[in-house]
Amino acid sequence: MTAPTKAGKRIGILTSGGDCAGLNAVIRAVVHRATGYGWQVLGIKEGTQGLLQRPVQYQTLDLGSVDGHMMRQGGTILGTTNRGDPFAYPMPDGTVKDRSDEIIGGYRELGLDALIGIGGDGSFAILHKLAQKGGFPMVGVPKTIDNDLGKTEVSVGYDTAVAVAVEALDRLQPTAASHHRVMVLEVMGRDAGHIALAAGIAGGADVILIPEIPYSIESVAAKIQDVRNTGRNFALVVVSEAVKTLEGTGVKKVLQGGEKRYGGIGDYIGEKIADATGAETRVTVLGHVQRGSMPSPRDRLIASAFGVHAVDLIADGKYDRMVAWSNRGVIDVPITEAIEHYSCVELDGALVKTARGLNISFGD
Ligand code: F6P
Repeated sequence: MTAPTKAGKRIGILTSGGDCAGLNAVIRAVVHRATGYGWQVLGIKEGTQGLLQRPVQYQTLDLGSVDGHMMRQGGTILGTTNRGDPFAYPMPDGTVKDRSDEIIGGYRELGLDALIGIGGDGSFAILHKLAQKGGFPMVGVPKTIDNDLGKTEVSVGYDTAVAVAVEALDRLQPTAASHHRVMVLEVMGRDAGHIALAAGIAGGADVILIPEIPYSIESVAAKIQDVRNTGRNFALVVVSEAVKTLEGTGVKKVLQGGEKRYGGIGDYIGEKIADATGAETRVTVLGHVQRGSMPSPRDRLIASAFGVHAVDLIADGKYDRMVAWSNRGVIDVPITEAIEHYSCVELDGALVKTARGLNISFGD
């Protein structure tokens, strides 16, 4: 593959980390804005992996390749990965190797003037380090269903993930009511309870368990009894995946290659509730369904605004920054600040207050 000839600026774009809805809408917006400036856009395949391979794996992106269906599509047309830190890259023989120079070499081979990375905190930490080492301009666009990136009110993908979780509660409610059951819904979110909190409020949950608020089963059981006392014989419980057991451990699954991911706390909580209340209890683990959906209108809007602003930052020569959502608009912040500030649920925040006002129990 030979890189196309350069006319004006040539920028690269890649998606990195776990996918989510709205990534394609960011790519589309970047291509529109950059084309407006007369620039070329190269889409790098599989995150930084594309820059590691020889020949470098990329595709030329123009208006013809991004319009039509793309904004509605979940996932990322470029592919992504949440494995393989280039500074400690796992090799087939079990050792790790610093392959950052190869990635910087791949960037140079494409003759890029700047790179836009769409990612979360882990990806930004790596991209920032690569940009510093390689001396190349980089701008970040925040995406994560977990919404745990600091310095932005919202990240691409979060709204859709919440919408999927709310839809799941909407579907669980009638079956819970028909069978007089307690329905437990386990949602993603890594170490932050944002998805559980928002979906629980919007989906009419009775109990929301999040990692930020310690719970007791007695308190959850008391809430379910309160519900029964009102004459209702079913309940909806949302559990965030990083909620700990009563012994204080996180519940994780070991995957191929020994990697671990959260998963299984819903079953644990379901059993405890059944034991404590005698209620027939069923558990649903939503999993990656939360990531794979068609993006919500809000995610499409935020993604589009972020993509346009990211290109404008490059046009203005403002690098090493992350675009962010604040007060109904787009701003930009130093990417290092976004990496440093992990955003979990604020205990005195509006949504916790709202949930308490709705008599939703946090099990505390
Ligand atoms: O960070 C996004 C996320 O979906 C988390 O909510 C979840 O814990 C994790 O990624 C799942 O990772 P994987 O796609 O590797 O299973």
